[in-house]
Amino acid sequence: MSDRLYIFDTTLRDGEQVPGCQLNTVEKIEVARALEELGVDVIEAGFPISSPGDFKSVVEISKAVTWPTICALTRAVEKDIDVAADALKYAKKGRIHTGIGTSFYHIHHKLNSNPDEIIERAVRAVKYAKKYVEDVEFYAEDAGRTENEYLARVVEAVIKAGATVVNIPDTTGYTMPYEFGEKIKYLIDNVKGVHNAIISTHCHNDLGMATANTVSGIINGARQAEVTINGIGERAGNTSLEEVVMTLKSRYKVLGIDTNINTKNIYKTSRLVSNLMNMPVQPNKAIVGRNAFAHSSGIHQDGVLKNRENYEIIDPVEVGINESSIVLTARSGRAALKHRLEVLGYELTKEKLDDVYQKFLELADKKKDIRDDDVAMLVDDHRKKERQ
Ligand code: KIV
Ligand code: ZN
Repeated sequence: MSDRLYIFDTTLRDGEQVPGCQLNTVEKIEVARALEELGVDVIEAGFPISSPGDFKSVVEISKAVTWPTICALTRAVEKDIDVAADALKYAKKGRIHTGIGTSFYHIHHKLNSNPDEIIERAVRAVKYAKKYVEDVEFYAEDAGRTENEYLARVVEAVIKAGATVVNIPDTTGYTMPYEFGEKIKYLIDNVKGVHNAIISTHCHNDLGMATANTVSGIINGARQAEVTINGIGERAGNTSLEEVVMTLKSRYKVLGIDTNINTKNIYKTSRLVSNLMNMPVQPNKAIVGRNAFAHSSGIHQDGVLKNRENYEIIDPVEVGINESSIVLTARSGRAALKHRLEVLGYELTKEKLDDVYQKFLELADKKKDIRDDDVAMLVDDHRKKERQ
């Protein structure tokens, strides 16, 4: 099995569906160019039949972007596929992503159909899309809640019909990591012809498991991961690109799987998406949150100052953040204050540092965090006192 994971970014499709996150075409092109620079393999640019704006965005992104494959979403409906193919006409590498619900709920309560008819519709859609493009991805919507045996029948049929990638979405974010991994393994072990296609993960974060499920799927043989920047997406969001990529990078010795992502662009891409979509990143968000590389307790600060690796598993430079920060709060120790004083150009003797540290604690109890000008003021006050 290949040791290369393809990164399929759906920030501009699943991510952009979030209320309040809509972008205009110019903004979408800016994000698409940033994704290209980041090194994603596939950009899902939109759902062309859903609106004229989405159609136009897929057209313009196809023109603007050179290296990644441009993907357009459809339902398993001929008209959707016709419109998607039209929107992709300028793509250097175009992919149609078509699919249908496969869970009991979707088959009976959404599509008012039956399992055999769903397979027929799936096969028909894939064959129809193949008339336009070689690269056809099929999604089995709500695969997370689809019984494995039936899912294997669907996957086998669509691969036989020509699907190059088969997406196994945990649409409702319902599965546990071990279940999702078992599902992927079941497909790899039981679907005839499975090696003619790439199996893809597409996890939602309703139970906070999207990254864990995705990684479990990869360990069990999936070689494409569908992700968004900052994990934005429907409800609790999609799997976040930065979490999956940095998990693979940090644990390469154990997992042995690599991506094409230029990780040094992660932080700036995260900021761009957050700003354009008006969607703040939670401070404790893994990899890109404000506190992801900030140390505030005295014990941790002392440890980091002795050796960064005592408390950091990722060098912030690897994700495009210049350095980790030592935040001065009432929990900070002398080592952190000494470090900040040195950064600001102050060398204090041990006695002077002790004195300034006491004043620092009094101030820190009153303020949430201590800024550089507060530190400078503490030293000035101390010097004034000395002169008296
Ligand atoms: O979550 C999902 O099932 C999807 C599909 C349309 C791929 O977004
Ligand atoms: Zn989705």
